[in-house]
Formats: sequence, C-alpha cells, structure tokens
Amino acid sequence: METRKPITTARLRKMKEEKSPISVVTAYDYPSAMLAEQAGVEVLLVGDSLGNVVLGYDTTVPVTLDDILHHTKAVTRAAKTSFVVADLPFATYHGSLDQTLRNAARLMQEGLAKAVKLEGGAEIAPAVQALVRAGIPVMAHLGLTPQSIHQIGGFKVQGKTNEQAKKLLDDARALEEAGAFSVVLELVTDELAREVTDAISIPTIGIGAGASCDGQVLVFHDLLGFAADTQPKRMVKEYAAVGSMIRGALQQYVQEVKSRQFPAEQHTFHRPEDVAVHLYGGGNS
Ligand code: KIV
Repeated sequence: METRKPITTARLRKMKEEKSPISVVTAYDYPSAMLAEQAGVEVLLVGDSLGNVVLGYDTTVPVTLDDILHHTKAVTRAAKTSFVVADLPFATYHGSLDQTLRNAARLMQEGLAKAVKLEGGAEIAPAVQALVRAGIPVMAHLGLTPQSIHQIGGFKVQGKTNEQAKKLLDDARALEEAGAFSVVLELVTDELAREVTDAISIPTIGIGAGASCDGQVLVFHDLLGFAADTQPKRMVKEYAAVGSMIRGALQQYVQEVKSRQFPAEQHTFHRPEDVAVHLYGGGNS
C-alpha cells in the first residue's frame, strides 16, 4: 500500500482549492478506524452519532465528553495519517469559554484528536474563536444539527426558505471568520450547499447536502449497512450489507455449536502421546 503524508488542515484547504473531493467517515473504534485509514479516507470523525449507532440511544443528546474521549483514544491509536476530528458533545461548549477550552483540550491531550467539531452558527463563533486562538482546529456543523433535535423538532431538510438560506449562509461566513477550518453541512438543499461552498474559502463537508460540497461524510454503520435494524435513509448509499452478513455468520456459528460441527479437528489440540501413557498407568511412577 502506498504511504501518504499525514493529512493536515492545510492539506484539506488545498484540496478545496484543487477541487479534489475530501472523504470523511465516522469512526468509533480501533478496527474500523484502521480499515478506514487503509482505505485512504482523509478525515475520521469520532462523531456523537456514536450515541445512536454504537451506544443504542435514540438521539445524540445523552452522549458525554467521557464517551467521546474513550472512543477517540481507540480511533487515534489506529489513525496514522488520517486527520481525526472529535465531536464536542451536547452542552459541552455553551458554558464559559474557559470550560469549553478545557473540554476541547481533553479531546486533544488525552484523546489525541487533531481537531474538534461543534454544532451551531454565529452564536458559537466566540467559542470557535477561543478554541482557534488556543491552537485547536475547529470543524463547524450547520444545517440539521442533531444535538438540537428537540428544538428543531425532527429530521427535516434545512435551508428551504430564503430566510433559512440567508441565515445559514451568514452563519457559514461567521464561522469562517471565527477561524473554523471546515464546515459540515447536514441535510440542506443542494442549491444552498453550492452557494455556501462557493461563498467561503474553507472546505464544506456534506451529508445529505448534494454533490457540490468540497467533501462528503457518512456514518460508518450507515455506509456499510451495519445497523441492520434501521430504516434506509435517502441521503445514504449503502456500499455493503455487513449487518446481514454478520447476522448470517452468527446464525451459522450457533447452528454449528449446537450440531457439534464446531470445533472441528483443525480447531482442536491434542495431548502428546507420552503424557497420555504417563497418566493412564503406562509410566513408571
Ligand atoms: O456525529 C456525527 O456522526 C456527525 C456527522 C453525521 C457529520 O456529526
């Protein structure tokens, strides 16, 4: 496999300039991060979607800083060249700037993340600015922001009205101005995503935001068809059906244990002949 240089924020910006699309995928553990790294994914996001796809919550709201930290540590152990961004979870960046800084610092110092992601528009620009001043790269997140799901009232496409579109564009500019190195656009119209992408110099990373964004992100379990019990989402392309493959393999394992087909001879260890003789009376003790 060809070795590549570690991905940096400067490289990501250059990719936008060169119109070279950026691939981003979420990762929550060592083996999946390793596979994504080997596949050439540029950015691994330890997203708080962890709450839905790994921890079994209905929303991302219950996810804690310690949850993200625990999973970030596993991901950064595998990511040798991919750029790891860790989500600041619900209500961890809305108190004092000092507290925000301390929370983000834990993800960087203990988790070894290279950057953090925050949801919200111009209202979080002061937090973004404080983090960037402290040397912490920030990925912003606009459009559908799952941490505010109870306020938004459901998974709806954002930016459909002129008023919504103008606000989102203003927010994107404010976040760029505050120093964010990139912005995720989730579930916004294709037209608005294109306008934002053209209006700002930092890369836009889309999810359900059309093909004009500078990059795309998908949730690991969605793109692999891993969460076999969830409804398919329109914005997701499933590149595999790993969930049903795993279930099939587990069913076969259960069946083979019950029918004593497993373990077979090749999985079995035998005692050396001389020990058997010794135990059963052929020896001289
Ligand atoms: O938490 C997450 O996985 C995310 C992506 C969907 C962008 O924020």
